[in-house]
Amino acid sequence: MKNASGSNAAKQLAGEAAAEEVEDGMVVGLGTGSTTAYAVRALGNAVDAGLDVEGVPTSFQSRQLAIDCGIPLTTLEESSVDLAIDGADQVASGRTGPVLVKGGGAAHASEKVVDASADRFVVVADPSKEADTLDHPIPVAVLPDAYPVVEEAVRGLGGDPELRAAECKDGPVVTDDGNLVLDCGFGEISDPASLASELSAVPGAVEHGLFVDLADAVYVGTDDDVRIRET
Ligand code: A5P
Repeated sequence: MKNASGSNAAKQLAGEAAAEEVEDGMVVGLGTGSTTAYAVRALGNAVDAGLDVEGVPTSFQSRQLAIDCGIPLTTLEESSVDLAIDGADQVASGRTGPVLVKGGGAAHASEKVVDASADRFVVVADPSKEADTLDHPIPVAVLPDAYPVVEEAVRGLGGDPELRAAECKDGPVVTDDGNLVLDCGFGEISDPASLASELSAVPGAVEHGLFVDLADAVYVGTDDDVRIRET
């Protein structure tokens, strides 16, 4: 389900530009994925140079990367997040702000908590993620026992759910939190806010990957520049 398109140069420019927003003393939400990883590495270099920050990771992957980069970590119990930097699988302009699909790495439940709690949430992406209208399948993390019930509910909403299969493991993907993931195709999503509300109301659905009006800015890297869209 992971969108592997997009050049590394574009991801790097977006990630490193977003990292420049980080100021001394900040608590930074560390998103998951290959684009955010460039921001985390840049932040690690800044910490080496004396920047005083703490990170709140959103997954096993981002925690490991932060540790490798020497970024001190904290938790939502101890700190509130000043700035979150995170990637996306698809980005479009909604009626009142950016709308995103996230969860290609199955980390969207923790990502949504950290990103939504931040004073400012910056999305980093490359042009392959941009769309006029969202049409990427929506990842829905589900309680393992609940997946058949959630599948039925998603079909009732007009979706086409598919249990995400693991690679290098027999059976399904299991998230860092022990949940399964249904990738739910809805075709073109004309009203992301309504669909987000409907998915949130499904019993057994832990979290879905539609992020509506949560982002404050979108950084889109190209091979030689970064476009920044503030909302
Ligand atoms: C993790 O579950 C996702 O939400 C990622 O943030 C998203 O898939 C973007 O990842 P890339 O930057 O690797 O495309």
